[in-house]
Amino acid sequence: MDYPTVFEAAMSTPEAFWRERASEIEWFEFPRTILDQDDNGAYRWFRGGKLNTAWLALDRHVENGRGYETALICDSPVTGTKSRYSFREMADWVATVAGALGSLGVTKGDRVIIYMPMIPEAVVGMLACARIGAIHSVVFGGFAAPELAVRIDDAKPKVILSASCGIEFQTVIPYKPLVDGARRLAEHEVDHCVVLQREQCQAKMGASDLDWQEWVAGANPVAPVPVAATDPLYILYTSGTTGKPKGVLRDNGGHAVALNYSMRAIYDCAPGDVYWAASDVGWVVGHSYIVYGPLIAGCTTILYEGKPVRTPDAGALWRVISEYGVKCFFTAPTAFRAVKKEDPEAREKSKYDLRCLETVFVAGERLDPPTYEWLGENLGVPIIDHWWQTETGWSICAKMMGLDDAAAIETRAGSPTFPMPGYDLKILDDDGNELGPDQEGNVVVAEPLPPGALATIWGDHDRYFDAYFSTYANHYLTGDGGFRDADGYVYIMGRVDDVMNVAGHRLSTGELEEVVASHPAVAECAVIGMADEDKGQIPLGLLALKDGVNEDPKALEAALVAMVRADVGAFANFKRAVVVNRLPKTRSGKILRQVIRKLVDGLPYDIPSTIDDPSILDELHQTLIDEGVMASR
Ligand code: COA
Ligand code: AMP
Repeated sequence: MDYPTVFEAAMSTPEAFWRERASEIEWFEFPRTILDQDDNGAYRWFRGGKLNTAWLALDRHVENGRGYETALICDSPVTGTKSRYSFREMADWVATVAGALGSLGVTKGDRVIIYMPMIPEAVVGMLACARIGAIHSVVFGGFAAPELAVRIDDAKPKVILSASCGIEFQTVIPYKPLVDGARRLAEHEVDHCVVLQREQCQAKMGASDLDWQEWVAGANPVAPVPVAATDPLYILYTSGTTGKPKGVLRDNGGHAVALNYSMRAIYDCAPGDVYWAASDVGWVVGHSYIVYGPLIAGCTTILYEGKPVRTPDAGALWRVISEYGVKCFFTAPTAFRAVKKEDPEAREKSKYDLRCLETVFVAGERLDPPTYEWLGENLGVPIIDHWWQTETGWSICAKMMGLDDAAAIETRAGSPTFPMPGYDLKILDDDGNELGPDQEGNVVVAEPLPPGALATIWGDHDRYFDAYFSTYANHYLTGDGGFRDADGYVYIMGRVDDVMNVAGHRLSTGELEEVVASHPAVAECAVIGMADEDKGQIPLGLLALKDGVNEDPKALEAALVAMVRADVGAFANFKRAVVVNRLPKTRSGKILRQVIRKLVDGLPYDIPSTIDDPSILDELHQTLIDEGVMASR
């Protein structure tokens, strides 16, 4: 099958197309309907279907005689350890941890927060929840206590699974004080926190805390619980345009069908292939392509507790690829930029045999053309930029390496190629008119979204409609701007809302502004994402001080940097906060963040007719030059 045929089939006969994809996984009961709408008007896939995602990912392969093949490889340069687990070992381990969760009263529909570093117990915890129909919510280990507290109050988990520490390069980061801090800040009371004690750091245990090893030692394995296709599998919080994160809710059926299909059709991977996504289980890439996608498809997946550089060197990625025979590798462009910076000639690569590697996929941010060229020249395999979001769970645009015409479809620098089957993508202007080739506008997807995309926002179905479907009727607003060229190649140029992308991590301006604005000297502030060579974007804080405040700007900047690290996390890379006289606003008082962003990046911008005082833009420009944020004109 070639791409045009597949895309057209999904467009013209979506139910027939996805019925066939659904028959490619195993169900306890095959769905009664393929696509319909619920009482709220939201589209639902595979109603009436019964399945279990953990069983699909592990036990099914054991039953099919592949129990002794490797499911999970763990490689941790920061602890100097490596381990492998077969499908059978994983299935048994997950069944026991599922039993242990049951012993704490966790049952179908209950929430469990997982706040763990890149250790096998994180994967096992996720799958154990899936086995009993509990809903996991993995929180990235880089988030500080207040962010964890917000998620505890929203998800209201019975239990938190955690570890005594994470390790960043050589620094041991104790997790338990962060969990304890979050539990103190949260209103919701968590029954228990289960802590895996790592040898690098012993956590101090409290009355409601349980030691992971003892907890599991006393547990009995339990059978998988059949759940409805439309039952939730997980909540994953992501940054919206306000300070409050959105709990993206993923259901079981559509997710399993879409990921299974994507592994074959997009990544060209089959059972037995080794697939590696170098991301973190706390992000959607980790959910879809470290844990669920490869395991459902029967591939070997790799969990890597390390960095692309300095663990120990810029050859780290090549070492893992060659050591485990990785066929398909997926990471964020920022990871390759880090390697390129330390090893521009890719000399480290020559130490390793990379003949196993067939394709490299990147996502998380735009693949900048220089990095695309560098990868192509140095790796000699197809470099596929693909575009997706936490909300969609799998790619909106990609090149499908598993189709017959893959070799005939060229990739173009700066483009994630074409829309995936099921994504009816359009470029609209602000009034909802469809734009022609090379015209940049808002990228949207006509309803229904394909299987695997978010079902709703946890606990706030109105926000789901408001955030995604209220701007254009019956169209999902991606929040990204972009265009199509005359040949239909899609180009994603960045967010058009108040979301930024820092080293492949998604952050909202609102999240950071809440912290900055809480400083007593700050009257008002704007945080924008400014272009950065290494991280893609980094945040820049602009602050107007309260009248009469006479604070040293450098001391204030240092205080704000420390506050963001403590309240959000170091990964936000908040390092610059500049005092300005005034912020550019509309007459109704709305800060013109998009205009400021373009000004800072040296891009052309239109001065909105609603601007209160255009001279503020010149004044701001001069301040940013004086502060060394921008080069002089
Ligand atoms: N726990 C605690 N701290 C963390 C953390 C974690 N899980 N992840 C990052 N941090 C800290 C870092 O230690 C660093 O701290 P410092 O300011 O004290 O030095 C800070 O946050 C900045 O981190 P980051 O910007 O991520 O830089 P890095 O040098 O640690 O790592 C990359 C660089 C490229 C490896 C990393 O940014 C990365 O993996 N990005 C891709 C993200 C991703 O997978 N996105 C999903 C799409 S594929
Ligand atoms: P997240 O939800 O954290 O995965 O972030 C999703 C956002 O990252 C998207 O809305 C885009 O802004 C950006 N993004 C992800 N992949 C790409 C890509 N291949 N090209 C351009 N932007 C991307």
